Amino acid sequence: MLKGKVALVTGSKSGIGLATAKIFAREGAKVAMADVDMAGLASAAKEVSQYGGEVLTIKMDISQEKEVEDGLQQILNKFGRLDYAVNNAGISGTFRPFAELTNEEFDQTINIDLRGTFLTMRAELKHFVSVGKGSIVNTSSLGSVVANPTMGPYIAAKSGVIGMTKSAAVDYADKNIRVNAVAPGVTYTGMTKSVLDGENELGNLAMSLIPMKRYAKPEEIAEVIVFLASEKASFVTGQTVVIDGGSSEGSK
Ligand SMILES: NC(=O)c1ccc[n+]([C@@H]2O[C@H](COP(=O)([O-])OP(=O)(O)OC[C@H]3O[C@@H](n4cnc5c(N)ncnc54)[C@H](O)[C@@H]3O)[C@@H](O)[C@H]2O)c1
Repeated sequence: MLKGKVALVTGSKSGIGLATAKIFAREGAKVAMADVDMAGLASAAKEVSQYGGEVLTIKMDISQEKEVEDGLQQILNKFGRLDYAVNNAGISGTFRPFAELTNEEFDQTINIDLRGTFLTMRAELKHFVSVGKGSIVNTSSLGSVVANPTMGPYIAAKSGVIGMTKSAAVDYADKNIRVNAVAPGVTYTGMTKSVLDGENELGNLAMSLIPMKRYAKPEEIAEVIVFLASEKASFVTGQTVVIDGGSSEGSK
């Protein structure tokens, strides 16, 4: 389905990003995997290579403008094109009731989850405008639809990601460039394992709010990301697809 295409996935050493890289590779695309953790990325890239096709690993801290721009250039040098960009890298930030948050805790999460997504989107959009086509998918969160307790900076950042998705979608809708987002519910990954494993208040609360009574697997988010990125979603732009096992519709 995606033979000859090139996809960038940020934050792809594990979890949703790694699952997304695998599905792009399975569908025939060449994949550029970007992350801050190069050791983790090297072993993740081996897994992705098993699906066939070429894989490029890139050291890219999305909060560093130069690393983002250099990373994009590395993709163009190696593959000569970029078709799809998945801005998935992120951190959960500090879990603390709102009034107890420090400026530093707020800034750290905003700097990566919101400003980092801005930096990557801007660089990708400049390239897509120059070639007259492209497709972006951003990873937001269910938290932007139904707030989780004690996650103020994360929810602010992920709500901002939806805002940037809509804004960029409108700016470039007539330029053959689509911009969409996914809002995953609780997904079992490195980010959530420590909270979800074992008995604790937040884990129990999370499970009680999911009508399907299970967490998402990273592949269940990744399949939707690749669909939205691909030409199969050719008239979809500015949308956020909530993938949450029914959580945002109520609990039972
Ligand atoms: N797991 C969930 O329940 C869940 C729910 C909603 C949204 N999300 C979002 O999904 C995305 C992927 O998370 P995940 O659950 O797969 O967790 P994960 O920790 O497995 O993946 C996050 C990846 O981002 C990378 N990363 C962190 N900071 C970075 C930076 N500054 N520059 C580049 N890479 C960086 C990490 O090294 C890691 O590989 C995140 O944006 C997260 O907020 C996750």
